[in-house]
Amino acid sequence: MIIAVRRARAICAVLLGFVMFTGFIAVPAHADVLPIITGNERFHPVYARNGMVASQEALASEIGVSILKQGGNAVDAAVATGFALAVTLPRAGNLGGGGFMLVHLAGTGETIAIDYRETAPAAATRDMYLGPDGKADPDLSRNSGLGTGVPGTVAGLALAHEKYGSGTFTLAELIAPAIRLAEQGIRVSDDLAMSLGSARERIGKYEATNAIFYGGRGEAPRTGDILVQRDLANTLRVIARDGLTGFYSGAIAEQIASSVRAAGGVMTADDLAAYAPKLREPVRGSYRGHEVVSMSPPSSGGIHIIQILKMLEGFDIADAGYGSARHFHLLAEAMRRAYADRATYLGDPDHVAVPVKALLDEAYLASRASGIDPERATPSAQVNAGTLPKQESEQTTHFSVVDRFGNAVSNTYTLNFSYGLGLVAEGTGVLLNNELDDFAAAPGVPNAYGLIGGEANAPAAGKRPLSSMSPTFVFRDGKLELVTGTPGGSRIISMVTQVIIDMVDFNMNPAEAVAAPRMHHQWLPDVLRIEQGVSPDTASLLEAMGHDVKTSYASGSVQSIMITPEGLLAGASDPRRPGAGVAGY
Ligand code: DON
Repeated sequence: MIIAVRRARAICAVLLGFVMFTGFIAVPAHADVLPIITGNERFHPVYARNGMVASQEALASEIGVSILKQGGNAVDAAVATGFALAVTLPRAGNLGGGGFMLVHLAGTGETIAIDYRETAPAAATRDMYLGPDGKADPDLSRNSGLGTGVPGTVAGLALAHEKYGSGTFTLAELIAPAIRLAEQGIRVSDDLAMSLGSARERIGKYEATNAIFYGGRGEAPRTGDILVQRDLANTLRVIARDGLTGFYSGAIAEQIASSVRAAGGVMTADDLAAYAPKLREPVRGSYRGHEVVSMSPPSSGGIHIIQILKMLEGFDIADAGYGSARHFHLLAEAMRRAYADRATYLGDPDHVAVPVKALLDEAYLASRASGIDPERATPSAQVNAGTLPKQESEQTTHFSVVDRFGNAVSNTYTLNFSYGLGLVAEGTGVLLNNELDDFAAAPGVPNAYGLIGGEANAPAAGKRPLSSMSPTFVFRDGKLELVTGTPGGSRIISMVTQVIIDMVDFNMNPAEAVAAPRMHHQWLPDVLRIEQGVSPDTASLLEAMGHDVKTSYASGSVQSIMITPEGLLAGASDPRRPGAGVAGY
């Protein structure tokens, strides 16, 4: 209670601009509510009272907030943001990809999970990524039409709007801002100019892509240029006019399928007509009294975030201190065990039996955690997927939305690589994904993120490849306190986990938690990756414990919104990606 009162006072101080806050606030070992904001932190979130959108592109966040201001709910704002990002953040925002959305409804307290993951076409086969020598050929899944899954985004956003929107806006009204941006053009930011420049060789070889993004001359735009996407505007107009059928049948579906086939794929217009998003039961678990609700299969994200957190619950992470060797060691050990389970057990639940309950079984996770030596790394060669109790058989983007009614959306969607395959379906302006590289091309063969898998994630007709995307909510006593998620391939799971740990164990506010240097371990390869900013002393100590430590590039674009018990919204966009933005009112 005292904490709550102090916290309320502190927040008021921040809001009223009394930043010369001098009092010392005693911070408990780990917060039973998310962090206490004192105004004295190194990084500061954006505050708002009524509604907020955090996304990787500031203009799209503004569009979402404008919908909230006009009386829309979080789902309406999410749908408008999702369509807008397809125009303003073409490397990851999309119509030609797929993703996962969690919706929290304040009225009933329920959380809904929408799976709009891309799906393998009906002509897909187990061996479609093997070359003539019988060995997996990564070019087939990453750089050819065989890697393109049937896009799910348009169906996913339309389903969200239809079932959970406020009813105040038609789908066409939510698409209208995206149409305007595509038609009138967007100002090319430094970030967009740089990313199109570095993708040029891979994606500029496709004629339609070259025409739209490289002026037909193979030249990347410069900062300040205006990027007009006329074909995309037309496609958006057709969706606004005809709804789903406009995209999944007729001319657009034909153009998508024939462009994919021309690039070596096997997709047909029938595959598009057969696409359906699915409502799933989200996965749930607890961490030090907070309830974590996240995405279920065909994403592995939620299961492994909860596994890692649960394995760590018996260790005093807070006592270890943020960034200490012990902190990163314990996380790495829990992560390697979780990712080992991922490689064996996870796949599309409509094709293989995923033992969700058993993987989240507390006794199972306690026994997994008991194998962790707090002083020494266990080589991954000695860690296999656990024996389960017999209970049952570069570039993605995330956005978080909270409205004034307390509804929330946590959405991660992707084309897989930056700009996906890089192929724009002729005449549509739609960039297509190369998501099917997330299948295990052959047992033990790594995907682009180094993740391996087996039978459970083998390619098959109509199957959805396993994902790491982890849109997540955290609740305390039934009250929503955090909406978060990020891109980052295999690292999504470890990043979301660390955001939660940084807030719960280390009392970081959302801005501090998204900025804090992160680590990553995914079982195989047996490497503990640390970001720049981690102390070299920590790295040496981790090496002495037996870890192979490598410093790697900054990864991720976490978009978090915290809701304080007083109802204040505190949002933060990851500083690792320029151009991101929190908008609120
Ligand atoms: O679904 C997945 O797990 C991956 N296809 C996500 C790719 C990704 O996050 C790339 N972004 N940096």
